[in-house]
Amino acid sequence: MEKIVIKGNKPLHGSIEVSGMKNAAVAIVFGTILAEGKCTLGNIPMISDISDAFDILTSVGAVIKRIDKTTYEIDTTRIKPCSAPYDLVKKMRASYYILGAELGRFGKARAAYPGGCDIGLRPIDQHIKGFRALGADVDATNPGGYVNITTEDGKLYGDSVYLDIVSVGATINIMLAACKAEGTTVIDNAAREPHVVDLANFLNSCGADISGAGTEMIKIRGVSKLHGVHYDIIPDMIEAGTYMVAAAATKGELTVTNVIPRHLETVTAKLLEMGAEVEEYDDSVRVRGKGMQINGTYVKTAPYPGFPTDMNPQMGALMAIAEGQSMIREGVWDNRFKYVDELIRMGADIKSDSKSATFTGVKTLHGAPVSACDLRAGAALIIAGLSATGKTEIDNIHHIQRGYEDIVGKLKKVGADIELRYVPDDASALNSVG
Ligand code: EPZ
Repeated sequence: MEKIVIKGNKPLHGSIEVSGMKNAAVAIVFGTILAEGKCTLGNIPMISDISDAFDILTSVGAVIKRIDKTTYEIDTTRIKPCSAPYDLVKKMRASYYILGAELGRFGKARAAYPGGCDIGLRPIDQHIKGFRALGADVDATNPGGYVNITTEDGKLYGDSVYLDIVSVGATINIMLAACKAEGTTVIDNAAREPHVVDLANFLNSCGADISGAGTEMIKIRGVSKLHGVHYDIIPDMIEAGTYMVAAAATKGELTVTNVIPRHLETVTAKLLEMGAEVEEYDDSVRVRGKGMQINGTYVKTAPYPGFPTDMNPQMGALMAIAEGQSMIREGVWDNRFKYVDELIRMGADIKSDSKSATFTGVKTLHGAPVSACDLRAGAALIIAGLSATGKTEIDNIHHIQRGYEDIVGKLKKVGADIELRYVPDDASALNSVG
């Protein structure tokens, strides 16, 4: 098994480049199904969620060619609907976008009920509500673990749908399904995340007619056909935020490049509150934690433009060493504090329940063997290991590799003593005894 091993307490210095946004890329990769031809996607991050999405697409007939390190040509001319392999789809949450894309192109869809990070219940009732509003018949009673979607005449009909809860996935899936519906669809109480906007921009480049993305009301006028395009994915705001927090936690100085500062406003505001210096430039931010006294603060996560839930664990790792009391209230997921136990193993003083955590800052954390339980929890453990004294060994790093391209290499370049180490299974089993 591979582990990430960190010898901490070294300030990070230098410049770190952010990759394309995971949560935009997975949506747009499945969105290419609607183009019915060749798309070239740039700024694709090299992460396992993307390779999983590629595996699913090729398994249903897409032809994917690598143009360069971050650019791929995806030809979806010969997609066979309702044929995505169960195990591939079950592996990754975002694979459920194949439902909206296939439904939008073929008037039918079938895929395994999705899996994903264990951060709480991951229902798809709002997706189903949207598909049904467009006239689809959705059977989600799980015959064999599948979601089956059909339409009477192979067509969808535009209508209005109000989302009972702000859902990124449901907003994206309904947008995908509605692109070629007859008439106009309105998604009310839609998610406003930058990756929702990025997908809408991609689909409009393919000939769709979508307006209002980025607001709570998105209008999709159905068109008869979409076509292939070249499109570059936006930078990953959560990866950027992760490195910004790491700069503060190690009291270093990092310039994080290939970012859209506007997407990071809430993270920047909180880091300034905690005593870091943050300067914004056109496509980069500079975070200086050198000599800073890290002050405690309060964060409530919420759908965009609120403080991103996907930055909860990373902020927790910083609050663990902040002066005095801090608190995080989780406003999106019902089980996002599983990382707390691992920080406590490193000496943090945290009290938590499913919806909030209170941190009493300690002078420093101490390295220890810890486990990543989900993608952003893994990122938090890396930040904690970088700031801690001594050695930290992180296992279950496949969670981290789902969403962070070459995080070990990128951190090494800015002075971290961090490496990927292969540990034979029996040795790792010994470590996990007890
Ligand atoms: C996306 O998940 C992201 N994943 C998550 O990022 C992110 O945490 C989340 O949006 C919120 O921003 C991808 O984009 C691949 P939701 P998604 O639908 O779409 C409830 C990461 O770390 N809900 O916005 O699954 C749901 O239970 C990952 O990159 C319903 O009740 O999230 C949750 O409480 C982790 N019914 C809330 O809405 C539904 O039908 C928000 O979920 C759908 C969702």
